[in-house]
Amino acid sequence: MTSQYRIAVLPGDGIGKEVIPEGLKILQAVANKTAAFHLQFDSFAWGSDYYLETGRMMPPDALKILADYDAIYFGAIGLPGVIPDHITLWEFILPLRQGFDQYINYRPTRLLPGLRSPLRDKGPQDIDLVVIRENTEGEYSGAGGRTHIHTEQEVAIQTSIFTRHATERVMRFAFELARKREKKLTSATKSNACQYSMVFWDEVFEELKASYPDVRTEKYHVDALAARFITRPETIDVVVASNLFGDILSDLGGALQGSLGLVPSGNLNPEKKYPSLFEPVHGSAPDIMGQGIANPIATLWAGSLMLDFLGETEGAGLIMRGIEEIVQKGTCLTPDLGGKATTAQVGEAICRQIEQL
Ligand code: NAI
Ligand code: MG
Repeated sequence: MTSQYRIAVLPGDGIGKEVIPEGLKILQAVANKTAAFHLQFDSFAWGSDYYLETGRMMPPDALKILADYDAIYFGAIGLPGVIPDHITLWEFILPLRQGFDQYINYRPTRLLPGLRSPLRDKGPQDIDLVVIRENTEGEYSGAGGRTHIHTEQEVAIQTSIFTRHATERVMRFAFELARKREKKLTSATKSNACQYSMVFWDEVFEELKASYPDVRTEKYHVDALAARFITRPETIDVVVASNLFGDILSDLGGALQGSLGLVPSGNLNPEKKYPSLFEPVHGSAPDIMGQGIANPIATLWAGSLMLDFLGETEGAGLIMRGIEEIVQKGTCLTPDLGGKATTAQVGEAICRQIEQL
């Protein structure tokens, strides 16, 4: 029987509205080609325009509206200079991630053949890794406060929170992923300096190791690990990290790919109790919005992650092959990759390519 998926589409702001239509085109092309599944897209025009009209980024019952979808496909949000970024973040992205318990931030980093990394001597065979970032607590738990504000005695406290529940589940996910890849897992730590949170992190990692005897493990201090991303990325395959460490390492990984316009991410609720959210890592790019030159590849790649998560591995692979072929040819690329093509031309070329695969 053909599967049927309902996808909630949130283009958001700026170039989000330019890249998402290309993503939808490609997803539809893959559905047609494989005939393995049907996609139903429902689009919601929430974000900054909605905020300017209503005073809210999304309606009060947004989570209820989205809860029954199989996945959320999101562009980008942000209208800097008009709406403060902490409003767009805390009233749009974070409520979705937290409300839907998307406790895994999944960030693949892979240098596509044909592109050059900022690392002069490293090629596609060297750069292929995944950062699994804890997405609900740790350093970004929001616990803390300020007191004696604007006095000489002013105090600011930002507390990290690490629970056994959340630490175990993110590590288990990373171990399972490592099993499907090179059976190698690196835990980012800093237990020399953080003698409570990171010593605890290391202990949980040690305990879980016993259940995954087939996975080689190592713990690595996050500062040294950041350096190793640059000097020896070929020695890294799956990394599990806390919210802050994972945020930094995954952006570093993204930078190795050559353009922010290529980097996708998934915010996952692995149990599928709630919909997971798939997005390009970049923002609304106000400096290039409206010009039709945004690179759509990060969004297409996010679409591939979405299909993969839904269990449609063939379709997910087709999108990646389409992207790879077009990037390798190098004749139809957006300006961030040194080309002259438009967003729509790149989307169209990848669509045609997929039809021919
Ligand atoms: P940004 O990611 O929007 O842009 C950074 C730079 O990368 C810009 O020069 C932009 O032109 C370029 N760029 C980004 N995506 C590109 C693409 N697909 N193709 C070609 N070039 C691309 O980050 P910025 O400028 O710091 O933030 C702009 C707005 O986006 C802010 O309001 C910010 O809060 C928001 N933002 C939203 C995110 C989200 O929705 N998940 C993530 C990051 C930022
Ligand atoms: Mg970041």
